[in-house]
Amino acid sequence: MKGGVSLLLYLISALGVGNGRHIFMSPLVTRARTVVIVILPETGVENTLYRQFGETIQKRSPYRTWSVIADLHGKAARLEDIPAIVWSVRDRLREEGFTADQYDLFLAGHGTSGLPVQLYASIYPAEVDGILLFNSYLRQGQIITFPVPILTISGDLDGVTRITQIADMLIDNISEDENEDDSLLQMSPIIVIEGVNHGSILTGELPEYFKTADVNSDLPIDRAIDKISDITRTFLVKTVDNDSGSKLSLLKESRKTLTLLQPIMEIKRMTLDSTLKSTWVTYAQIWLSGILGPNSAKMHVQSYVNRNLEPALMEQLDGSVTIFTFSEMVYSKDDVTDDDMPPASPRLMEIKSKLFKAERVQAVLSNSSVGGSIKSCRDINYASFVYTYHLAQNITRKRFDRTHSGIIFHEDIVARTKSEWEQQKLLVEQRDNVLHVTSVSWTSTSSEGIVYCKLLPPPRITEWIYVDSLL
Ligand SMILES: *[C@@H]1O[C@H](CO)[C@@H](O)[C@H](O)[C@H]1NC(C)=O
Ligand SMILES: *[C@@H]1O[C@H](CO)[C@@H](O)[C@H](O)[C@H]1NC(C)=O
Ligand SMILES: *[C@@H]1O[C@H](CO)[C@@H](O)[C@H](O)[C@H]1NC(C)=O
Ligand SMILES: *[C@@H]1O[C@H](CO)[C@@H](O)[C@H](O)[C@H]1NC(C)=O
Repeated sequence: MKGGVSLLLYLISALGVGNGRHIFMSPLVTRARTVVIVILPETGVENTLYRQFGETIQKRSPYRTWSVIADLHGKAARLEDIPAIVWSVRDRLREEGFTADQYDLFLAGHGTSGLPVQLYASIYPAEVDGILLFNSYLRQGQIITFPVPILTISGDLDGVTRITQIADMLIDNISEDENEDDSLLQMSPIIVIEGVNHGSILTGELPEYFKTADVNSDLPIDRAIDKISDITRTFLVKTVDNDSGSKLSLLKESRKTLTLLQPIMEIKRMTLDSTLKSTWVTYAQIWLSGILGPNSAKMHVQSYVNRNLEPALMEQLDGSVTIFTFSEMVYSKDDVTDDDMPPASPRLMEIKSKLFKAERVQAVLSNSSVGGSIKSCRDINYASFVYTYHLAQNITRKRFDRTHSGIIFHEDIVARTKSEWEQQKLLVEQRDNVLHVTSVSWTSTSSEGIVYCKLLPPPRITEWIYVDSLL
């Protein structure tokens, strides 16, 4: 078939939720396997804004490819809408002379539509040959067991489906040793494209609600669509023909993504690891002690989380010191929960830490060289920023530097009593483009030499550097 794309508007006459002006774009090539890709738009986005994307996929695809853009009447896609949509697509294919075994059907969801799409595929895996999540992601823990091939494509400038959420989704199922994850990534490639935002596959604006949350894209729309269509094509070929070259190419892209996500995961793991200890609080205690030089090796700190105990310090016979610190991770209260939505991972708001003051540690490890610049809760929080910033990839740091978004660490609020300390929250406020952080401290007057600090969790800094500062 020569010439442009013939665009057919297909109005289904049957009653029910499947009703709609789905856009059916008929194939450009005739002699090849037939493939159908059904795209569910983001909530509130007209399906016509996906035409260029649908066409580009057809042009790139080596198959006789139908692109179908579902009409959701401007509403959010719901799981119960999908059977009717799939039915109407199959019905149309039947009219064109294809029986169900003569084509492969892929279901794709953009943004919030990604969730019903994955629910549908996990309930009816025989109905689809694979799913694609554009600017969306699989629910946590599902990646290992998902019953059909799945491709996740997002952008590092997506302010709605954030890169930090994608890292969160993966963190428990990706080992720290990068090479071990090949089989997982081969099965379910995850590709975060540099410069792409939430609206990068649309030739038009996102609804206001998403637009204000989204970061500006670095990539012109045509190039973003080309790039995403290319990856989509590769996934189709990998799935339909079990093509090893395509498999390898997706694996390479996924590994690149993993490199981008690694700092975010590392920050999260060091804040709270799987054994419920916090390397971050351990660092805080070591820095706060001010012990420098060889004697710093005589300090052994173990930082336990969510046990509300006073810290303990024990001198060992060999002259070393073991310190146990205890902290509580404070999460944001759960927002409204919706049965259809995956529970949002709760946000870590502050770390209530109980540490030893420098004087106390130095009194035990006397004859140490002492110093360092970390003397208050505020200083530890500043270190959180410096650490997170330096761990980020060059591209992330460059973008952040360009925003000139400052971050100011104010003098600690000194609580008079323990209960005052308990109640006064760590203050984190964004004013204009600047983040203001104020910690709360409480210091014991007794000889125990204990200080309580409200610490800024490093993942909050990640969120600021990677996304919020760019808005
Ligand atoms: C994958 O992650 C989920 C939680 O997100 C966890 O429950 C599960 O054990 C993990 N599976 C593997 C094999 O790591
Ligand atoms: C796909 O190809 C791999 C080799 O690349 C092979 O091991 C596997 O059995 C093939 N799967 C199918 C379903 O043909
Ligand atoms: C203190 O440290 C110095 C050098 O590190 C050493 O020569 C000296 O013997 C130490 N004194 C005591 C009392 O441990
Ligand atoms: C990041 O930037 C530094 C200098 O700013 C450079 O030395 C380093 O090679 C860069 N790393 C990458 C991976 O590009």
